[in-house]
Amino acid sequence: MTPSRTADERERDEMTETSTPLQPKGTGVLIGSEGARHSRILGVGGYRPERVVPNSELVDRIDSSDQWIRERSGIISRRMAARDESVVDMAEHAAREALAMAGLEPSQVGAIIVATVTHLLTTPGAAPMLAERLGVQCPAFDISAACAGYCYGISLASDMVRGGSAQHVLVIGVEKLSDFTDYNDRGSAFIFGDGAGAAVVGPSDTPGIGPTVWGSDGSQWQAIRQREPFLDADGSPLSSPPVLTMAGQTVFRWAVWGMAPVARKAVDAAGITLDDLDAFLPHQANMRIIDAMIKQLKLPADIPVARDIAETANTSAASIPLATERMIRQNEVPRGGLALQIGFGAGLVYAAQVIVLP
Ligand SMILES: CC(C)(COP(=O)(O)OP(=O)(O)OC[C@H]1O[C@@H](n2cnc3c(N)ncnc32)[C@H](O)[C@@H]1OP(=O)(O)O)[C@@H](O)C(=O)NCCC(=O)NCCS
Repeated sequence: MTPSRTADERERDEMTETSTPLQPKGTGVLIGSEGARHSRILGVGGYRPERVVPNSELVDRIDSSDQWIRERSGIISRRMAARDESVVDMAEHAAREALAMAGLEPSQVGAIIVATVTHLLTTPGAAPMLAERLGVQCPAFDISAACAGYCYGISLASDMVRGGSAQHVLVIGVEKLSDFTDYNDRGSAFIFGDGAGAAVVGPSDTPGIGPTVWGSDGSQWQAIRQREPFLDADGSPLSSPPVLTMAGQTVFRWAVWGMAPVARKAVDAAGITLDDLDAFLPHQANMRIIDAMIKQLKLPADIPVARDIAETANTSAASIPLATERMIRQNEVPRGGLALQIGFGAGLVYAAQVIVLP
């Protein structure tokens, strides 16, 4: 239904009808911005907080068992950040590691994108705070695309490098989900973990980041969300800290049936076939979702698949770069090989692209 026009809109339309349009001077000709022909990921890094939390530490409060959690989610343990460890602290570790792999100094960073939903300040963003830590004053901003945040960030960074907005863009997926988890909630207490993953995107002579296939389904915004807004309907502050809630089965079905076609489209858009892949890097949501996607996709059996969830749990925006960093470090994937990555989560939102591994 079209909403009725406001008084402001009616006044604006009346003025447009009666006034003579102004003419531009027409004397200046702009120089457009131009960047590199292609982009690629030059380095990745990861940070896992020191504290390991096995399932056994969580089960009593939710009347569960280590066996149930392993069978239903594939999670064995997760990392939990220290009380005084922030998303900016974790992001800094991962960023420095990614820069080291790329062979770059912080001063060469032209822009910073931090993908997170757990930075404790709605403003300012974590990115300018990270820039300050790195000693740079480049453009820096946060994006909120939950578990798809890293793939959204890679897409933006690639376009920025090719569009000439920056030569090297640092993309960080970082979450301290332990601050937003209700450890009495059976449906979500065991799923989440803390950590940070980073990538440096820079110029390339050949394509290193394929077209991004991305989108959203806002009709399902309730499926994973902060349980309550910061203020109640009367404008009074929340009585308890904001925590995440999840309709597990709804998310499960959406991921299993909806995401394999998105992954396939990203492979097609990149002009390759599944057989050309050297790695599959899905968001680490749940091991059963990963297995179901492999089946739906008919992914060739010899392609290494990220299964970092077992020891890292679901770290939302950090999960794909953390899994990538681990697989490269453990020599499970060839440097320079092709990897399909796909992120999906709260929104609901998703993004997939084929990348050349750094
Ligand atoms: C959360 C999730 C693991 C739950 O698994 P599930 O198989 O859907 O579980 P259900 O809610 O259907 O419950 C099945 C049974 O297990 C029980 N159960 C639910 N949570 C439990 C828990 N934490 N421990 C033990 N038993 C539990 C239920 O009571 C139910 O018992 P019943 O069969 O006797 O009624 C699963 O839905 C999931 O992973 N969803 C996707 C979540 C996700 O990926 N989120 C992030 C996306 S970015």
